[in-house]
Amino acid sequence: MTQRRATATAHANIALIKYWGKRDEELVLPYTSSLSLTLDGLRTVTTVEFGDLPADTATLDGEPLHGTALTRISTFLDLVRERAGLHSHATVTSRNEVPTAAGLASSASGFAALAGAAAAAAGLDLDARALSRLARRGSGSASRSIYGGLALWHAGHDDESSFAEPIHSPLDLAILVILVDDSAKSVSSRVAMRSTVATSPLFFRWVEDSARDLEIALRAVAEGDLATLGETAEANALGMHATMRAAVPPISYFTSGTQEALAAVREARAAGLPAWATIDAGANVKVLTSAADAERLAEWLRARLAGLTISVDYPGPGIAIDKG
Ligand code: DP6
Repeated sequence: MTQRRATATAHANIALIKYWGKRDEELVLPYTSSLSLTLDGLRTVTTVEFGDLPADTATLDGEPLHGTALTRISTFLDLVRERAGLHSHATVTSRNEVPTAAGLASSASGFAALAGAAAAAAGLDLDARALSRLARRGSGSASRSIYGGLALWHAGHDDESSFAEPIHSPLDLAILVILVDDSAKSVSSRVAMRSTVATSPLFFRWVEDSARDLEIALRAVAEGDLATLGETAEANALGMHATMRAAVPPISYFTSGTQEALAAVREARAAGLPAWATIDAGANVKVLTSAADAERLAEWLRARLAGLTISVDYPGPGIAIDKG
C-alpha cells in the first residue's frame, strides 16, 4: 500500500461549563452539554502515517508509549480504519508544545490532533462536525478543540447528535493559569467521572444545575456579560468538584495551594478586578477574565501568591490539518 501521512495541530480548551460523566462510555455520550474556550497556549502537533507495519506505534515528545496509553490510541485508530476500509497500522508521532501554560497537559488537544491527522492520513474527508464527533470518541473534551474560541458541545442522545460547534461572542476573554502543581494527576478524569456517576448522591443534582448554568452562560456570552459568565462558570466548576467529594470513596483534586489560589481570586474580585475561577481534574486553578484586564490581574495575583507561576493565555485557533 502507498504510505499515507498527515499532520494536525490542535489547541487545548478549558471548559467554563463542564463535562463530567458519560451516559454511554463506548460512544462517549455525556450527561451534560458543555461550553469551553480554546486557548492559544498549549497545542499538540501530531503526525499519523499508515504503512506496512506489524503494529501501531506512538511517541509523545520523543518517548515511546506503551500499555493503556498506546491501547487508547490504537482503539481510536480502529475507528478510523473501519470507516476508511483500511487494514494497515500506523506510526503516531505527537508533540505537546507548551509555550506559556505549563501543567496544562491535555487529552483534548491530543485526541483532536490525532483525529484530524488520522482521518486525513486515511483519506477520510470529514467536515468540522464529523471531525468533532470522531474526536469525541477519543476523549470527550477533544470534540471542542476542533474549533477556535468558544465551543459548545451538545450532549446529544446518540453518535450523530453529540458534537461541538463554535459560538460567537462580543467578549474578548483571557484565561490565567495559576500553576499549583505540575505533577501528573492521581486519578484520571475518566476513572473519577465513572466513580462519581456510579456513587455520588450529588451527581444528578449537578446535571440538573448544569443545564440551567449553560442557558445562563450562553445568554451571557451572547450579550457580552462577563460577570454573569464568570459567576456561572465558577459555580458550575465548584459544583462539579462537590459531586466528586460526595463520591464513595471521595475524590478531591484540591490541595492547600488550590484553596489559597481560590481565596486569592475571591480577593481580586473584592478589589474590583474581573476574576472567576475554574478547576478541572487537577489542582491548578484557571481564572477567567477579560483580555483587557488579564495582565493587570496576573500582576495582582503574582503579588498575592508569591512563588506560584501564573501565565496569561488568550483564545486560540481551531484545528489545522496538513496533508502530506
Ligand atoms: C474536568 O475529556 O479528559 O476537564 O472523555 O474520559 O477522555 P474523557 O474525559 P476528558 O474529561 C474532561 C473533564 C474536565 C471538564 C471538561 O473539560 O469539560
